[in-house]
Amino acid sequence: MPRSFDAALVREQFPALHLTDNGAPRVYFDNPAGTQVPQRVIDRTVDCLVAKNANLGGYFSTTEAAGALVDEAHQAVADFYNAPSAREIVFGQNMTTLTFHMSRCLGKKFRKGDEIVLSRMDHDANVSPWLLLADDLGLVVKWLDFDTGTYEFPEDALTRVLSDRTKLVAFGAASNCTGTVNDMKGFAAQAKATGALVYVDAVQFAPHYAIDVQDIGADILVSSAYKWFGPHQGILWGREALLEETFGYKLRPAGNDLPHKFETGTLSHEGMAGCLGAIEYLEQFGEGPTRVAKLKSAWATLAEYEQALTLRLIEGLKTFKGLTIRGITSANAMHRRVPTVSFTLEGHDPASLAKSFARENIFVWSGHNYAIEPVGRMGLMDKGGVLRIGLAHYNTAAEVDQLLSSLTRITRG
Ligand SMILES: Cc1ncc(COP(=O)(O)O)c(C=O)c1O
Repeated sequence: MPRSFDAALVREQFPALHLTDNGAPRVYFDNPAGTQVPQRVIDRTVDCLVAKNANLGGYFSTTEAAGALVDEAHQAVADFYNAPSAREIVFGQNMTTLTFHMSRCLGKKFRKGDEIVLSRMDHDANVSPWLLLADDLGLVVKWLDFDTGTYEFPEDALTRVLSDRTKLVAFGAASNCTGTVNDMKGFAAQAKATGALVYVDAVQFAPHYAIDVQDIGADILVSSAYKWFGPHQGILWGREALLEETFGYKLRPAGNDLPHKFETGTLSHEGMAGCLGAIEYLEQFGEGPTRVAKLKSAWATLAEYEQALTLRLIEGLKTFKGLTIRGITSANAMHRRVPTVSFTLEGHDPASLAKSFARENIFVWSGHNYAIEPVGRMGLMDKGGVLRIGLAHYNTAAEVDQLLSSLTRITRG
């Protein structure tokens, strides 16, 4: 296992990276919509389904093994988020479903006329659940607005909308459209100072940087393992005291203890096993005495590689006439973004571009990608949205160059 980063050794671990279509290798730049999985994830998942396939709480060997696996997976994700306790980790179907669920539970604390703050930069999964709650309860919605020139929030964006009636501030750690990384810690501190709850969507941040919920200071943070090399699985962290006091919509025989109060029904044990595998995969890139330390150092290594690759892509895209990158482009600001690069190109519809790339087996997304607030804010909703290229640490400079050559061919018709 490599201790430091080596793209070739990384790629060896992902069976999907070696598949071809009609002889053409696949170039996976669709990562913000879901990453490929390493062998470790596949092995963990298969082992769960073969050897530990039982429901929880019984007296025989498979139920005991399943229980141990579920506990191990909760602890691994607690380490992934640097949460103080595995009791604070709630598994669920995906980020959207967890957010709908948690918004209803938290909604028990809100009253008509209370205010909530949402973000114009966010994926709809961190917007619509709250808008619908506001509709149900008669809450007032205020908006955190970003600067469409810098693709960042102005420094006073939150202070402008906070008040002593604000009960919740929900924002994204990183945008799935512009790629901007937001000041989670700063926003959380400001919001907490007024007594508001802080809900962070870390779905696009988690595949690229270390998360430390104790440092961020939010109340709830959510991500999805299928975006960080794991299976289709959502995982929510919540501050223990908050989860304890929050009402849980659950069945009567289900326990009231954490985190099970919020984990309704029978969960995907194989999904949890896969998450454990993804975390074990990531750990190999780091060093340190604990898993938390290893993961922190792993993300630093991966981020350094990704940022260089992102800059290569951005510098290449900048040479195309009529192309506008819808995100941060300064060479010295790569750490303020994730490697998700969206652009528009004069005279080219994003969907047609995506189809042209697909013909060369380069996988990208186009449209609004559910980021309807930012795409709308940039005035691109009726123009087909953006073309989105999303890098991950298993991508290579050769693949970036291939995409740029492909774009040259496309623009030359
Ligand atoms: C920033 C962001 N938040 C939330 C989601 C929704 O995640 P899930 O598919 O787990 O519901 C996505 C999905 O792309 C996303 O990019």
